[in-house]
Amino acid sequence: MKQNKIGIIMNGVTGRMGTNQHLVRSIVAIRNQGGVELPDGSRLMPDPVLVGRNEDKLAHLAGVHGITRWTTDLKSALDDPQNSIYFDAQTTQRRVADVTKAIKAGKHVYCEKPISETVGEALELARLANKQGVKHGVVQDKLFLPGIMKLKRLIASGFFGRILSVRGEFGYWVFEGDLQPGQRPSWNYRAEDGGGITVDMLCHWRYVLDHVFGPVKRVSCHAVTHIPQRWDEQGKPYAATADDAAYACLEIEGGIVAQFNSSWDVRVNRDELFEMQVDGTEGSAVAGLRNCKTQHRINTPKPVWNPDVPNPIDFRSCWQEVPDNASFDNAFKVQWEMFLRFVAADTPYIHDLVEGARGVQLAELALKSSKEGRWFDVPELKA
Ligand SMILES: NC(=O)c1ccc[n+]([C@@H]2O[C@H](COP(=O)([O-])OP(=O)(O)OC[C@H]3O[C@@H](n4cnc5c(N)ncnc54)[C@H](O)[C@@H]3O)[C@@H](O)[C@H]2O)c1
Repeated sequence: MKQNKIGIIMNGVTGRMGTNQHLVRSIVAIRNQGGVELPDGSRLMPDPVLVGRNEDKLAHLAGVHGITRWTTDLKSALDDPQNSIYFDAQTTQRRVADVTKAIKAGKHVYCEKPISETVGEALELARLANKQGVKHGVVQDKLFLPGIMKLKRLIASGFFGRILSVRGEFGYWVFEGDLQPGQRPSWNYRAEDGGGITVDMLCHWRYVLDHVFGPVKRVSCHAVTHIPQRWDEQGKPYAATADDAAYACLEIEGGIVAQFNSSWDVRVNRDELFEMQVDGTEGSAVAGLRNCKTQHRINTPKPVWNPDVPNPIDFRSCWQEVPDNASFDNAFKVQWEMFLRFVAADTPYIHDLVEGARGVQLAELALKSSKEGRWFDVPELKA
């Protein structure tokens, strides 16, 4: 069987997302399965070059995963014609500069969200990529999660009737770092380093809402810093200057009302770290990362308000699981495979840098709304 190699520069690959989701669960997994199948039946094998600041870390990571190429010199990787794709999972603030270099070097680019800190820079990136004629993509992993795919199947079947509202609840307790280490990088909690939950999560909610329910039309948000001091990776206290919780209300085309709470200061009393309840005239569903349960109009119990007696209904037992009916691959890997096919065989791909810019736009408007205490329209964005 014919097999071609494709050189991929992976920058920021020593980080949490870079290592776990993009290298191990995606590129290494694709290599181990013998590459990606293209429409003509041939296979495309990723040939990564790991890029970062620390040679020892890169050498170790490469060695563990059977990768032969790594460098601390991004320019040499960009100058190498063997590499066709540049991927970026660095901290957000570094993205625009390095993605710009890659586009100017003629590489196709794929990167983590948020693609920039401002919508202006995001659109500039998209325009530059179009002008240079390179292909571009942004990570929109939540769309490929089993729970969300089951929800999309329910919508396609007409299960909900008319959808009325969507309630998203995301979050978990992120330890402050004094009694025990925090489980997220400390830059997430410093505004001056590109941190903040609004910038981080509203990018996700934008594409989830746009692609599952319809275009987001308006936003109102209250972003706060509940915990003003945290301890960093070295155990040193620092001022947490970025917002660590965002309470957003959104209006979707057609009048659907969405509320999304995103918080790193909430203790989980849910089945999953993210759950989204959808209520429609004919039925409701609660979708998580993996599972999705439903309650049809016909199976809806009839509660009567009476706090004087113990609650007679076991509400949780009135829901039915949507079956898997398939085995689901890792969401990041699914999207990597789509992007690789797009680059090599020009198959359809919609998750481009303009989509990335839409995410940044919503985050920017949400922060503006929080500052000014009012709703903002979300204007249509084009490259
Ligand atoms: N898609 C998702 O669900 C998801 C989830 C979490 C984070 N992210 C995004 O992924 C990106 C990385 O997040 P993370 O949690 O992996 O962060 P991280 O801190 O674990 O990793 C950041 C990477 O950037 C590199 N880096 C940082 N400063 C640098 C510098 N000065 N010079 C060169 N390299 C530098 C680090 O070495 C590391 O490789 C962020 O933009 C974040 O918003 C996406």
